[in-house]
Amino acid sequence: MTPGGGAGTVLGIETSCDETAAAVVDGASVRSSVVSSQVDLHAAYGGVVPEIAGRAHLELLIPVVAEALARGGVSPATDLGAVAATVGPGLIGSLLVGVSAAKALALVWDVPFVGVNHLEGHLFAALLDHPGIEWPVVVLLVSGGHTMLVSMEGPGRYRLLGQTLDDAAGEAFDKVARFLGLGYPGGPAIERAASGGDPAAFAFPRAMAVDGLDFSFSGLKTAVVHAVRRRPDARDEDVAASFQQAVVDVLVAKLARAAAAVGARGLCLAGGVAANGPLRAAAAEAAEGLGLPASLPSRAMCTDNAAMIAAAGAWQLEHLGPSPLDTGADPNLRLALIA
Ligand code: KG4
Ligand code: ZN
Repeated sequence: MTPGGGAGTVLGIETSCDETAAAVVDGASVRSSVVSSQVDLHAAYGGVVPEIAGRAHLELLIPVVAEALARGGVSPATDLGAVAATVGPGLIGSLLVGVSAAKALALVWDVPFVGVNHLEGHLFAALLDHPGIEWPVVVLLVSGGHTMLVSMEGPGRYRLLGQTLDDAAGEAFDKVARFLGLGYPGGPAIERAASGGDPAAFAFPRAMAVDGLDFSFSGLKTAVVHAVRRRPDARDEDVAASFQQAVVDVLVAKLARAAAAVGARGLCLAGGVAANGPLRAAAAEAAEGLGLPASLPSRAMCTDNAAMIAAAGAWQLEHLGPSPLDTGADPNLRLALIA
C-alpha cells in the first residue's frame, strides 16, 4: 500500500510536544524529514516546560520548514499538494504554533490544509518503512503520553484492544530516570544505563502480565522507588536494566497475546518507546515465535517526526478530504476508533 499515494507531495508539520519538525513526503517516499529537538532547553528542568516549548516552536518552525522544503527539493508555490499539521493531542501552546503556521502556509500556497491526529501519525510511521503490510496488524503504540494496543485493519480503521490504566510506558521511563538522576528524556537515558546492568538484579513486578490487554505501570515505578530506598548502594545500571526488562516483558507479552486474539497477520511498534533496542528485539522475537512479520519503523520514525504526519495527512486528504480552516487544536484529541 502506498500511504496517501494520490495526494502528491505533502509538507508535514509536527509541534505537539518538544520536537519542532517538518517533512516532505511523496507517496511512500520521505523526501526530507527535519527534527529540531528542544531537549537542551528543557533538560535543566527535568522535563518539558510547556511555555518554553511553545516559544521555541515559534522561533524554530519557519527555519525548520524552510530546511525541509530545501532538502526535499520542493518549490512550495508549484510542487506542493497539501500542508498537514498535528492538531492534537499535545500541549495546546505548542500545537497552536504548528496549526496556525500550517493554515497560513496552505492559504499562501493555495493548497489544502489537513489536520492530523498525532497518534494516527505514529500508526502511519510503520507504513512508510513497510508499504507492503498485510492487515490486520496489531500495533503497540507506546509514547510519552499513551500506551495502546490497536488492531489496525487498514489506514483509518483502528480497534482499541487495550490501554494503560495509569502511567504511559514512556512516562514510566521518564519518571524512573528522573528518580535515578539519569536525566531527561528518560527513555534513552534508561536504555544507556541498562546496557551496563543486570536485568535480573531486581525482580520487579510484571503488573497484569497474565490477564487482559490493559496495562498498569504506576506500581512498577513505586516498586523501583522502594527497592532503591531499601538498597541505596544498588547500581543505577542494575536498577535501570531490571526496570526496562519488566516493562519490555509486559509490553511484549500483551502484544503477542493481542496478535493471537485477533488473528493478526503482523506485529508493529510505534511511538517513542518503540525506539528502545531491547523492546524491538523482544517484539521481533515474539513475532518470529508466532510466525508473523514484525514491521518496526526505524528509530527515527518512532520518536516524534513530521514525516509520519505528512503520510497520515496524505492518506486523509485522499480518503476524507481537506480539513476546514477553522479546525482547532485539541490537546485531548482521541484516536477515532471503529466499534
Ligand atoms: O512519541 P514520542 O517521541 O512523543 C510523544 O508522543 O510522547 O515519545 C516520547 C517518549 C518519552 O517518554 C521518551 O522517554 C520515550 O518516548 N523514549 C524511549 C526511548 N526513546 C524515547 N523510551 C525507551 N527507550 C528509548 N530508547
Ligand atoms: Zn509522539
